[in-house]
Amino acid sequence: MINEKAMELGKKRSVIREIFEYAKARSAEIGKENVFDFSIGNPSVPAPDCVNEEIKNIVNEMPSVLLHGYTSAQGDASVRKTIADYINRRFDCGMTPDLLYMTVGAAASLTISLKAICLEGDEVVTFAPYFTEYKVFAENAGAKLVVVDSDPVSFQPDFEKLEKAFTEKTKAILINSPNNPSGAVYGEETIVRLAKTLKKYSEKFGHTVYLIADEPYRELVYDKETVVPYVMNYYDDSIVCYSYSKALSLPGERIGYIAVCPKADRVGDLYAAVCGAGRSLGFVCAPALFQYLVARCVDKTADIGVYKENRDTLLSALTAYGYRCVKPDGAFYLFVQAMEEDAYAFCERAKKYELLFVPGDDFGCKGWVRIAYCVSPDMIRRALPSFEELAKEYRK
Ligand SMILES: Cc1ncc(COP(=O)(O)O)c(C=O)c1O
Repeated sequence: MINEKAMELGKKRSVIREIFEYAKARSAEIGKENVFDFSIGNPSVPAPDCVNEEIKNIVNEMPSVLLHGYTSAQGDASVRKTIADYINRRFDCGMTPDLLYMTVGAAASLTISLKAICLEGDEVVTFAPYFTEYKVFAENAGAKLVVVDSDPVSFQPDFEKLEKAFTEKTKAILINSPNNPSGAVYGEETIVRLAKTLKKYSEKFGHTVYLIADEPYRELVYDKETVVPYVMNYYDDSIVCYSYSKALSLPGERIGYIAVCPKADRVGDLYAAVCGAGRSLGFVCAPALFQYLVARCVDKTADIGVYKENRDTLLSALTAYGYRCVKPDGAFYLFVQAMEEDAYAFCERAKKYELLFVPGDDFGCKGWVRIAYCVSPDMIRRALPSFEELAKEYRK
């Protein structure tokens, strides 16, 4: 006998992957330049120059056995010290190296964090729309994902609905700001209110309700006034799941970290649980070369100017064509209301114009679609007439 649940997961391809595969096949038929693939969140801007430069420096400077050898399970101590110092310079939250755990990206950061805190039957609350893998990660930790709708206009948390979702089994709330797929950023007022709510329910239930912040898009915000509050400065029992996949355009290299709030209750035990969860999942010693690399590029970010240009072009053109869009303050996705009730049918019709995007249903939000604008500005300009034609078809 094999694990049926694992088998099902392995057999079922995500909708995003399906569309991605369709795009490849269609490109072979009619030419890549004629297919407008907005399906996948793969960064389109290159990693900053420091990445390749420092890789060469590290390879030249470090003895091979050391460079390619195991680091500590939780990550190299000097790398964690560099990252902790950087976090403190930016957020002044008292981070220490022994509260950081290096991981293979945000996916592993989330899987480990959930495993560290959840018991069988616990509930983890998140807001729709949400990253499709959250359900898989929560269930892997024995928990159930409880989904709460966001405000349908702003895509900010709906606190009334949130309070109704809490039960004695609630172990954590999982937030993602800037958000995939809505691009919404939670401001200070929202985080303060979330912290207050979590405190209230922790006291009511007599157990800690954790706040997990999934932050692969932290650096991808486009306007000066948009600030992404650091949750640890608002709520003690919090864990930040960070990744360099989007910040440094390194999704294939698999590198990120977990940061445990120094003020968390029983913080030493919580960190030990993170280390134990990493151990039980086999996520120990993240890739050494990339640990050393991110320490050297700790304050660098890929050039996000292209994403801002893409956001502005798409947002103004689509709004002018009659689409209802949520203005994304961050990440590189535009969430757009489908022009018919069934987002799948809308996506099928868009294919006639060679436009490929992802139905919001998979993100827990029916009737919307996600457009990933991490593509070239030229592709966006060439795709605009197709967007216009598609909208016209619905006005007929
Ligand atoms: C919201 C969100 N969380 C987590 C991840 C996983 O990130 P990583 O590639 O660092 O594992 C992604 C990837 O797209 C994401 O969009």
